[in-house]
Amino acid sequence: MKIAVVYTLRREPLPGQPSDYYAEGDDPRTIDAVVSALSTGHDAIAIEDDSDLCRKLIAAKPDIIFNMAEGVAGEDREARVPALLELMGIPYTGSTPATLAMTLNKATAKEILRYHSIPVAQSVIVSRNGHLSEKHGLALPLMVKPLHEGSSKGVRDNSLVHAAQELKERITFIHDTYRQPALVEEYLPGREFTAAILGNGDEARVLPLIEINHAALPSGANPIYSWEAKWVWDTTDKPLDIFLCPAPVDDTLKERIEQMALAAYEALRCRDWCRVDLRLDDAGVPHLLELNPLPGILPGPADNSCFPKAARAAGMEYDALIRTVVEIARKRYGS
Ligand SMILES: Nc1ncnc2c1ncn2[C@@H]1O[C@H](COP(=O)(O)OP(=O)(O)OP(=O)(O)O)[C@@H](O)[C@H]1O
Ligand SMILES: [Mg+2]
Repeated sequence: MKIAVVYTLRREPLPGQPSDYYAEGDDPRTIDAVVSALSTGHDAIAIEDDSDLCRKLIAAKPDIIFNMAEGVAGEDREARVPALLELMGIPYTGSTPATLAMTLNKATAKEILRYHSIPVAQSVIVSRNGHLSEKHGLALPLMVKPLHEGSSKGVRDNSLVHAAQELKERITFIHDTYRQPALVEEYLPGREFTAAILGNGDEARVLPLIEINHAALPSGANPIYSWEAKWVWDTTDKPLDIFLCPAPVDDTLKERIEQMALAAYEALRCRDWCRVDLRLDDAGVPHLLELNPLPGILPGPADNSCFPKAARAAGMEYDALIRTVVEIARKRYGS
């Protein structure tokens, strides 16, 4: 079988672009690791998701695509490659363009979750030419983040605000730096978890839960899994002990989180795999933060990458995880 890994390359930002502009893209090491995992028994190649993608796919004639393309800018960036694949009739791993567009926009995802009675934090969108109404009705402290980003792009240690002036400044920062609306969200102060899901329909299962260990953050840092926590303070040389896996939770909480994650996966019509982030409120009730149907998959065990970490805890090494995703997708296509 010929498998093409379609990816978005993580580049150095150009002058004037924020330092995290390409944060969602993958580095060559990750792309190579995915190709290598799929090379056993298959012909695996890597193709970048540039404007020449259609021509490259016609030439390569892959049987299936391992889709890890995040796209670069715009609120539908993650939906573009799957939309092209739908148009060309090429099977691919993971979710449809509709799911990828809905989950990338955190407010849209939350509207759907709310409709399905899945608890989410109260929030408002502040558009670029608008301002936060005095009557926004949200209680400080608040989180301010870009409306449609991932990898903690725009979620800095100071994205948690405690006063009106800070709130205003962070909204302006999001508008000016990321040129998109800001999502202002009530802060969930409790424990934080991520649930890695594999499979479809009745076969969808949650891998061992990961708890984000806020206690491992440098002293004085806010208890959030910020850009600094993911990319600055946690290095391969000096890794932060940021993940507890399996999460130390009792059976009741574990079941509650797993069921909520699976319900969200179904509500957003995710396919094959997805990572679901949750946090408890001050009463200990889990709330859905967001869904990641293109989860990060750094290959090294020391990399602190959630999905591979959860898979390892379930006895599945990196290569097996990548191959399993392809097998799940093939089964869905009936091949
Ligand atoms: N409403 C909130 N209450 C408490 N913490 C929050 C809230 N929103 C975000 N956070 C914190 O900020 C972190 C990053 O937020 P979020 O998951 O929304 O960003 P992201 O860029 O989509 O991240 P990724 O794609 O890497 O999972 C979360 O892991 C959590 O620690
Ligand atoms: Mg997240």
